[in-house]
Amino acid sequence: MGKRGRTLPNVSGQDCGAGSARVVVAADSRNREAGRALAARLGLGFLDVDAGAPLCSAFILRLGTDGLALCSASERFGPISCEFASGRLRHRHHFGGGFGQGIARAVGFKPGSALQVVDLTAGLGEDAFVLAGLGARVAMVERHPVVAALLEDGLRRGRELAHDAAIAAAIARMELVQCEASDWLQNCTDAIRPDVVYLDPMFPEHNRNAQVRKEMQALQQVVGADGDADALLEPALAVARYRVVVKRARQAPPLGRKPPGFAVSGRSTRFDVYALRRMP
Ligand SMILES: C[S@@+](CC[C@H](N)C(=O)[O-])C[C@H]1O[C@@H](n2cnc3c(N)ncnc32)[C@H](O)[C@@H]1O
Repeated sequence: MGKRGRTLPNVSGQDCGAGSARVVVAADSRNREAGRALAARLGLGFLDVDAGAPLCSAFILRLGTDGLALCSASERFGPISCEFASGRLRHRHHFGGGFGQGIARAVGFKPGSALQVVDLTAGLGEDAFVLAGLGARVAMVERHPVVAALLEDGLRRGRELAHDAAIAAAIARMELVQCEASDWLQNCTDAIRPDVVYLDPMFPEHNRNAQVRKEMQALQQVVGADGDADALLEPALAVARYRVVVKRARQAPPLGRKPPGFAVSGRSTRFDVYALRRMP
């Protein structure tokens, strides 16, 4: 696991990050000690499920023997967890279109290219997993402690459970770095300078629609809007060797209102590509 670049606010209550929805860690008696330790590490409140304490939080980070999941107290959506070795992502890895996918064309993959990518807004690591599945080494930068905890847990379980050699190899190419993206860019040295910088900040609130999956809406409530994302583009352009790729809602303006060199558009999303030099 990568370095932890940002000191987490120790709020010792239930809030996690400015402007975000309330989250508590919950565990039953079998996972009580690990749950308490996680809550202390994240600076969150702890709920002992077996003690029957009243719940006064919109979101619960539930630690069970099968891993960590973000659940909604109102049950408006199912548990959110990182599942690399099974389900939707595993299916996409095998049947998702490979190098023909929009994200692969935007990043500039060719069969056999071993790109170094930094995903500065890693979220639950889905795009990073697609890129790693195509052969890239991906450093995943995530600043929100709850999201980073879900991602860390998904990587750990993926490493333990992946029976499929291709998926295990993809997970092995992914590394989590919990820090603020602007700090990562500022501290980037030649040794870790990426071929491609990838950015996927939260879509703006008013673009919330049926095409934004319920899970992404829930994540939006927990992490808040990524209102500072525009400021990442110029430093990203200064650091990337070959290109910067920004994922946007199809109709959204480009990041920082800076027109890309070209875009790869899909049904609901668009990848804006800022190509700096020709890939070897
Ligand atoms: C839309 S989600 C990314 C989803 C991701 N592409 C995926 O496929 O799962 C955006 C994520 O970027 C994180 N983020 C936004 N701005 C960031 C920054 N400046 N530094 C680090 N993480 C950031 C947010 O906390 C959030 O988890």
